[in-house]
Amino acid sequence: MSIVADLVELAAAVAREAGDLARMRREEGVHLAATKSTLADIVTDADREVEELIRARLREARPGDGFLGEESAADPGSTGITWVVDPIDGTVNYAYGIPAYAVSIAAVEGIADPDQWQALAGAVYAPASGELFTAGRGAGAWLDDRRLAVTVDTPAGALLATGFGYDPATHDGDLATVRSIMPIARDLRRAGAAALDLAYVAAGRLDGYFERGLKPWDFAAGSLLVSEAGGRVTRLDTESLRPMLVSGGIEVHARLLDILGDET
Ligand code: IPD
Ligand code: CA
Repeated sequence: MSIVADLVELAAAVAREAGDLARMRREEGVHLAATKSTLADIVTDADREVEELIRARLREARPGDGFLGEESAADPGSTGITWVVDPIDGTVNYAYGIPAYAVSIAAVEGIADPDQWQALAGAVYAPASGELFTAGRGAGAWLDDRRLAVTVDTPAGALLATGFGYDPATHDGDLATVRSIMPIARDLRRAGAAALDLAYVAAGRLDGYFERGLKPWDFAAGSLLVSEAGGRVTRLDTESLRPMLVSGGIEVHARLLDILGDET
């Protein structure tokens, strides 16, 4: 098997096991462990436990690889491959009992910086629906065993998604951005899990998705899903504190860049 296929297989197996643990903990009841950057930015005991499980499984399978996760310290590793992990993307949904949350695991090659790395493999697993999205560099994007493709035509306008950061000081600006894109939208979704938003773009369930201020673990796996499904992902304003991620099928991505590129 190729290295890419190996990495996809490992990402998928670990994402499933981790997601099943998250779902079990959810059924037992969720405890908030702490708030992070702001009151809205929460972490549950499950986020930490699930990340520990993922880290341990990846270490067992590939001891020298690096690790970059939401809930624990980064490790550069020695193999040139880094695992970029969000143990529970959509933590607020998770805490409220909304099923839109996912485990996101990517393997990337090169410097552990999203503007420099090359993503090799990704898995996004949504335990509540049982859907497993995977992608391998050059090997396509898949939902279970169905190959994914982004949408091409959006004659009635684009079904778009976005998200908002946790810092209330950023809300006015993000809402102004939403106002600016509404002329090309047939409607807008804010489902609360960036990894799933990107997986849905890959699956043609959304025509495009944009958001400012995402962290690498939010989009590492999902971006590979979109590009392997024939779509485009661009990060704008990368020197700022809140770069803008823009994704979609080729045509919607270009229309979003026309609007959002002028803004940044
Ligand atoms: C968040 C979710 C949300 C997005 C935020 C992310 P978390 O991740 O992906 O949809 O709008 O920007 O931080 O905190 O649930 O892992
Ligand atoms: Ca996240």
